[in-house]
Amino acid sequence: RDVLFVTSEMSDFLKTGGLGDVAAALPRALQGGCDARVLIPGYPAVLRRLGEPRVVGRVRAHAGLPECAIGRAALPDGLPVYVLVNPALFERDGSPYVAPDGSDWSDNAIRFATLAHAAAEIAAGRAGLGWRPQLLHLNDWPGALAAAYVSWRGGDTPSLLTIHNLAYQGLFPAGAAAALGVPKTALADLEFHGQLSFLRGGIVHAAHVNTVSASYARQITEPAHGCGLDRLLARCAATGRLSGILNGIDASWDPRTDPHLHAHFAAGDWQGKRANARQVRREFGLPDATGPLFALVSRLVHQKGVDLICEVAPQIVAAGGQVVAIGTGEPRLEREVAALARRFPGRVGAHIGFEEGLARRMFAGSDFLLMPSRFEPCGLSQMYAQRFASLPIVHATGGLIDTVEDGVTGFQCREATADALRRGVQRAFRVYRLPGLLDAMRRAAMRAPAGWDAAARQYQAHYDRMLAAAAMRPA
Ligand code: ADP
Ligand code: GLC
Repeated sequence: RDVLFVTSEMSDFLKTGGLGDVAAALPRALQGGCDARVLIPGYPAVLRRLGEPRVVGRVRAHAGLPECAIGRAALPDGLPVYVLVNPALFERDGSPYVAPDGSDWSDNAIRFATLAHAAAEIAAGRAGLGWRPQLLHLNDWPGALAAAYVSWRGGDTPSLLTIHNLAYQGLFPAGAAAALGVPKTALADLEFHGQLSFLRGGIVHAAHVNTVSASYARQITEPAHGCGLDRLLARCAATGRLSGILNGIDASWDPRTDPHLHAHFAAGDWQGKRANARQVRREFGLPDATGPLFALVSRLVHQKGVDLICEVAPQIVAAGGQVVAIGTGEPRLEREVAALARRFPGRVGAHIGFEEGLARRMFAGSDFLLMPSRFEPCGLSQMYAQRFASLPIVHATGGLIDTVEDGVTGFQCREATADALRRGVQRAFRVYRLPGLLDAMRRAAMRAPAGWDAAARQYQAHYDRMLAAAAMRPA
């Protein structure tokens, strides 16, 4: 199976959230059964890491989408990567999606339609690569339109579209359609309340759609979590075109070997875990203490329930706990988290920024992870925390339902409210005072997260079904 995996981030180079981790792990896990190759825009972080990639192909301009070169490189472990090179579109430092002031890049429609169109051209064999994928694996709205370009231009390469977060649809003004090369007769494919939805175009044209947990796959077919696409997605589900495949975690998440940790540890060796806790407290300027350490490692956005954590933090402090928080995101939530640290010196520490090593030490050093997400397609942080023996306190939604066993590997709160979170925190304090139970829960949590093999097998099963269906279609 020859697969082109299209992504807008990959943690080898840069990541803003879980998609970056998935895009690094899944194509590698697929290698046994597939020739999976990655297509990613040539951001400065990519070009710096790969050096000047060898130009092996070219995508011609189409409508308002500019011409691009395609570079080819291999990562040290051999994973093949195609880099879409266009300096004007992609050579900007910082986030792939937003300018330094936090607003979306104004040409995002063109930037990511160019990515999607390039994928479709590669699928059609028109990019001169000497390699043609049998299927496209698209991720989220930045890649979604590739499925539409393939069918608008009469191609037959099937696409699997993975939705990592339905809340980000790639919505753009209807007036952009001509520049994107959307055929006039196909406008309805993208139409979403007077705007163009890239994700909708992908859902309409993909052979199969999946999201990253079974529970979220169910939830998005209902109005409460469907972001206005629930009826379309319910139709996909009814015709067997929608499924849930749970993410895994990769082998770098191992407390016995992770080079970012202050001290390595294994299940039962809680001395090593305490050494990390002391280090994390030092890094956040908190004094040593005997109470539990709670962590927040998250994009600071409404989805993640950060406001609920801010509301409950005073009670955590009053009960003798400490809180450490790292994140970036909405300026208002960044301010709220920073203010908490000023209000409770020595009890709450905050770092507004993105730092992988520190995040890993926080999972290793904390006793509990706070993750009361309002919705969560899968969630990786709660799995990383579990592997590092930090028990997650989560809202029972989406992938958090599927990965946290209440009272066994963590705590589920029934609602995304401060009251429900407060009760979860109280349960955590009670467990903290019972060393035997704490030890048993930590051991169970460390065993809980699965690697990527199970997910890779499920993706391959879908690829096979899609290829079989494509072979059955009359030419
Ligand atoms: P999402 O993709 O919605 O952000 P996930 O839980 O799937 O949520 O993935 C988030 C990933 O980003 C995890 O690897 C988490 O550790 C990481 N992360 C989030 N914020 C930060 C931060 N400020 N610094 C370092 N890592 C972070
Ligand atoms: C998204 C979701 C998160 C998921 C990640 C990787 O960003 O918000 O729940 O774990 O993608 O699939």
